[in-house]
Amino acid sequence: MDQCIAAALNKQIVVELDAAYLYMQMGDWLEKNGLSGFGDWLRRQAREEVGHAMIIFNFLKERGAAVALGSVRQRKYFFTSVKDVMDKLLAQGKHIAGTISKLIDLAQTCQDVEAAVLLAWFAAVQLEEEELVTNVLMRVNSCYRDAVGELREIDSELAQRQETIPSLLKSQRKHGVA
Ligand SMILES: [Fe+2]
Repeated sequence: MDQCIAAALNKQIVVELDAAYLYMQMGDWLEKNGLSGFGDWLRRQAREEVGHAMIIFNFLKERGAAVALGSVRQRKYFFTSVKDVMDKLLAQGKHIAGTISKLIDLAQTCQDVEAAVLLAWFAAVQLEEEELVTNVLMRVNSCYRDAVGELREIDSELAQRQETIPSLLKSQRKHGVA
């Protein structure tokens, strides 16, 4: 495996875990503000990001590449409203989509087909997440000043959302690498 793509994938593990940290912090803020459905959803999102980190970790190991885990930075989080959280969630999603897009370019430059296929899956998942967050943000924007009564409906819907374990992670598990 090309050294530069392996190094970039190692860095992406940190990006995924950093997102998980942010989502946990967002979930905590939302729960403290009476929105446990939003909180549950953000917990699931955080677990999905940890799953993404595991998929990359497993991929590197499967291919005999060196795993060199970096540090997840400590950030000061400050949220002012549900809309603020959703704006930041969308911005984070776009940031991750950008990192994946650069990785796809790199995989193509290195002619690493397997990495390009893996990353195409990540890009598709990211797009799906972005669509969902955009939808939630639009609905939050339609609520008057984050009125809790109006947010309740969205909150109970988000509480119902099922967690999905990516099929990629399941197949890695089946093959005994996870
Ligand atoms: Fe992710």
